[in-house]
Amino acid sequence: MERYPGKKRIAVFISGRGSNLKSLIKHSKQKKALFKIVLVISNNPDAEGLKYASKLEIRNYRINYKDKLTFENQSLKLLKKHNVDMICLAGFMKILSKKFISKFPGLILNIHPSLLPKYKGLKTHERAIKNKDKFAGASIHKVTDKLDSGKVILQKKVRILKSDNVNSLKKKILKIEHKLYPKAIDILLSSL
Ligand code: GRF
Repeated sequence: MERYPGKKRIAVFISGRGSNLKSLIKHSKQKKALFKIVLVISNNPDAEGLKYASKLEIRNYRINYKDKLTFENQSLKLLKKHNVDMICLAGFMKILSKKFISKFPGLILNIHPSLLPKYKGLKTHERAIKNKDKFAGASIHKVTDKLDSGKVILQKKVRILKSDNVNSLKKKILKIEHKLYPKAIDILLSSL
């Protein structure tokens, strides 16, 4: 196992594109970074983000999601093997069990594309536009057994313009997500 003295060891769970994973990896490569991404886990064998992790020689695993328990038990084995301190969910589309979450108390973060507590769940951009909101945004929060409901660590707004549609809003929010997630991790790690 690679050792990174003084750095916390993070696993990222993904299900798709992995652009947040990329931004976390990029951040972690800086000398001043407080963490290293040591493991990537995906429930989706075709997740684009896995290719990127492989390219950068970060350990990555596809774990078949036949059922939650098997997925979580296999993940826990890997987390232990790689001595993982903290988990970041980044576009991970499954809900973790209370039991799993309790193994990493206060140490699982998620990124959500809305100004929580507004718009928990899916289709956040659509809902913000439909409701004619003036602002949308992204939130990084601690994961609890209630969906998108744990303590918000960091949040940033973007203005919704009259000219915005779901796609343009998604792009705008994604751009801030990439800056926000590494910052939120640093905040959490500095508070430990
Ligand atoms: C992001 O918008 C994130 O907020 C949400 O899922 C999307 C994942 O995008 N939870 P990516 O896979 O990181 O590119």
